[in-house]
Parts: sequence; C-alpha cells; structure tokens
Amino acid sequence: MLTNGKEEVIKSCISLPELNAQVFCRSSNNITRTECCFSDFCNNITLQLPTAAVSPSPAHWGPVELTVVVTVPVCLLSIAFTLAICAWHGRQCPYRKSKRQSIEEPLSDGSLVNTGKSLKDLICDMSTSGSGSGLPLLVQRTIARTIIVQELVGKGRFGEVWRGKWCGEDVAVKIFSSRDERSWFREAEIYQTVMLRHENILGFIAADNKDNGTWTQLWLVSEYHEQGSLFDYLSRNAITIDGMIKLALSVISGLAHLHMEIVGTQGKPAIAHRDIKSKNILVKKNETCAIADLGLAVKHDSVLNTIDIPQNPRVGTKRYMAPEILDDTINTEIFESFKRADIYSLGLVYWEIARRCSVGGIIDEYQLPYFDMVSSDPSLEDMRRVVCEQKLRPNIPNQWQSCEALRVMGRIMRECWYTNSTARLTALRIKKTISQLYIAADFKS
Ligand SMILES: Nc1ncnc2c1ncn2[C@@H]1O[C@H](COP(=O)(O)OP(=O)(O)OP(=O)(O)O)[C@@H](O)[C@H]1O
Ligand SMILES: [Mg+2]
Repeated sequence: MLTNGKEEVIKSCISLPELNAQVFCRSSNNITRTECCFSDFCNNITLQLPTAAVSPSPAHWGPVELTVVVTVPVCLLSIAFTLAICAWHGRQCPYRKSKRQSIEEPLSDGSLVNTGKSLKDLICDMSTSGSGSGLPLLVQRTIARTIIVQELVGKGRFGEVWRGKWCGEDVAVKIFSSRDERSWFREAEIYQTVMLRHENILGFIAADNKDNGTWTQLWLVSEYHEQGSLFDYLSRNAITIDGMIKLALSVISGLAHLHMEIVGTQGKPAIAHRDIKSKNILVKKNETCAIADLGLAVKHDSVLNTIDIPQNPRVGTKRYMAPEILDDTINTEIFESFKRADIYSLGLVYWEIARRCSVGGIIDEYQLPYFDMVSSDPSLEDMRRVVCEQKLRPNIPNQWQSCEALRVMGRIMRECWYTNSTARLTALRIKKTISQLYIAADFKS
C-alpha cells in the first residue's frame, strides 16, 4: 500500500475461520494492491503498485494527441458524473452494500471488508465466530489506514485522542508516541482478551503501528462517544436520580464483567483495571457508561495463580489511589487486592456522580474527589496524609438521607472506602444492590 508517498508491503497468513468470516482479496487502484494465494509459502512474490502513465511533454503533441487529451477527460468526467448519481441513489458507503464474493475472485474496487455490515456488527460477528478476541490483524491495519482523522478531542498522559471517520462512521483514534510503545502494546493486548467485549467496556476496533519514515505512529482505534468522559459529562450536566442510577449501574456492570473470571475454553481471565476514574469512563449516547483506558490493567491466571505482568503497584492516578497503594501495604501476591483497590476508586466515582443529582432543588457543582482536602495536582505524600493518616474521605451530605437512592449510594460509597480492603463490597454485590434501585425506579414504565 501507498502510505505517505512510500510503498509498503505487508505479508500475512490468515486462518481459515478468519478467512471465511472476512473477505480480503481486494485492491484499491494506486493505493493498495492485494494478492491472495492458498498454498504453502506462496506469498513469496514481489508486488508493485501500478505506476502512473508518463505523459509526453505538451510541446510535442500533434492534433490527434490534443483531441485525445481533450475528449478522454471529458468522457471520463461524464462517466464519473453518471456513476456518482447512481451511487447517490444506491448507497453512501462502498464497504457496506457490495455483495459478498468468493475469496478466489478478487475484486477490483477499493473495498476490503465486505460483509454488508457496520463496523459494530462486523466486530460482533468476529467476537462470536472467530477467536473471540477481535478482528484479524490485517483487517485491523486496513481499517486503521482508511480512517480520516478529523479533530482533536483530548489529551492524556499517553497521547492524543482524535475523532476520525471510517466509512462514514465516527471512530476514536488514540495516538501514542513511539516513546510509549509499551503502553500502546499493552492496551491493545488487554482489549483483545478473549470474551472481554461488553456493552459497558469501550469497544476496541483496531491497533496499528505506522512508520512514517521519521518515527512510528501507534494507533488504537475504538468506538467514539460524542459525550466524552464521565468527567466531561458531569462537569457539563446535572442529572436526575434515575439518571444517576443508570450511570452507576452501567459502570458497575462493566467493572463486574472486567473483574469476573469466566471459566472454559472461551472463558476470560479476571482483570483488574488499576486506573478507575471519571476521566477513564466514557458516556454513550443513551446515557450509560463504557469503561476505557485498559492500559494499566492486570490479568489473573487462576490455574497458576499468577498475574500477567511484573508489578509496579503505584501506577494509577494519585487522587484515586486506595489507601493500601498510597502507604505501600498492598499485598500484590493476591490478585483480589487489585480488584479491591478498583472498588475504592469506584466509590470515588460514585461520589462524583451523586453530587450532580438534584435533591429538593439543590445540586452541588461538579468537583473532583478530595477537592477540598488536596491541591489540584496532589503528590503521593499529600494523598497519603489525607487518606491514610487522617483517614479522611469525601463528605457525604446530609440531604442525601432524604432520598432512598442517594441514601443507598452513600452507604455503598462508605463500604467501598474502608481502610481494610477485605471489608469492601465486591463488584457483584454492588451490581446487585444498584440493580434493585434500577428495578424500583422502574425504567420500563
Ligand atoms: N472513545 C472515545 N470517544 C470520545 N472521547 C474520548 C474517547 N476516548 C477518549 N476520549 C476523550 O479524550 C480525553 C483524553 O483521553 P485519555 O485517555 O488520553 O486521557 P485522560 O483519560 O483524560 O487522562 P489519562 O491519561 O490520565 O488517562 C478523554 O478525557 C475524553 O474526553
Ligand atoms: Mg484516560
């Protein structure tokens, strides 16, 4: 393919189930050229992009050449115009409607993935029919390289997040610098854990590393949520009690799925997030949440009882760190310790949500947890003094007692914030309690 004016060749092997679920053998004139073959080592061939025809200098053109030069573009323009009108009537996106063709029959147009489905359906299909962990790498790369990046939506510790378009659909592109290659790799790896997909976990689409000659750009492509993070959402909006229950239930559903081990060949390991905070949770169009930023997560191998990466416990965001992380007493040998630390941070996120509820016309302004006890960029020592030494926690206002849902939320928070991490609630317990609030609020009516 042609990338920033440079030719690049990718050779790849694809397993049969992947090949059956996807169609690849397509080329886009002058931008990509694809050949598929089906015997051992048959990809030992050299491909070249078609070179543009070299036109003679106009000084040597005779009347015949001039006629050709004038009439051919006019004809081509007319054909293009007619095709454009047909396309306008028929469809908007060439990826979606073209009929599925057999892989032995390469197509000549620019499409690659050809299932007549949206990105979401495509990923859904792959999660259930393929390895259960995402799209094949070649498809991921091709999707990433056909994205049009449009606007910068945010910046974090590990790079920038952009809104992009793929085939008419919005996608989020997180661009890491080559310095942060390990974070990029780790986040992509975690997102592609078998059976991780869940409506309350950010939908991963693709990872790509693109060398532009000077440096390597590392991309993570995911679903785009226009309301931004929960922090952005709560800063802009006050919410109703029902709105609070919906947000709280969706966050804990995502976290419970992450924490849960599913046993079996298509099972998933237990995962602890280690950086739960309102900036790492996104708000979807329907006002439910998706947990994002899995780059610091750890997986548990329950058979060997091991954690998959060497431990540096102090990796999250200081403001949200559990007391046992701040004073370095966390027992990293036990995987449950990491889940319990997530629960403490979740309690702080719940406090941020609940404050934005209107109770008898009173709505607190949005604030970060411990806003009244530490500075805007607290050090580990600042946090340790407040959380471990003085044993302070965010204030639970009296007016919350006047509303059943807020009373329950306040109680959950307290039970997430115990210094003794083993006394904290589990994600499943919290999910059950908030589900009851959800049923009582009777969302269906
Ligand atoms: N998938 C997405 N859809 C829409 N907006 C997003 C998406 N992912 C991230 N954002 C926006 O981009 C911002 C930056 O995200 P990023 O994860 O890089 O940094 P952060 O969470 O703010 O900080 P940190 O680096 O500590 O995680 C988010 O706060 C959010 O507003
Ligand atoms: Mg983040």
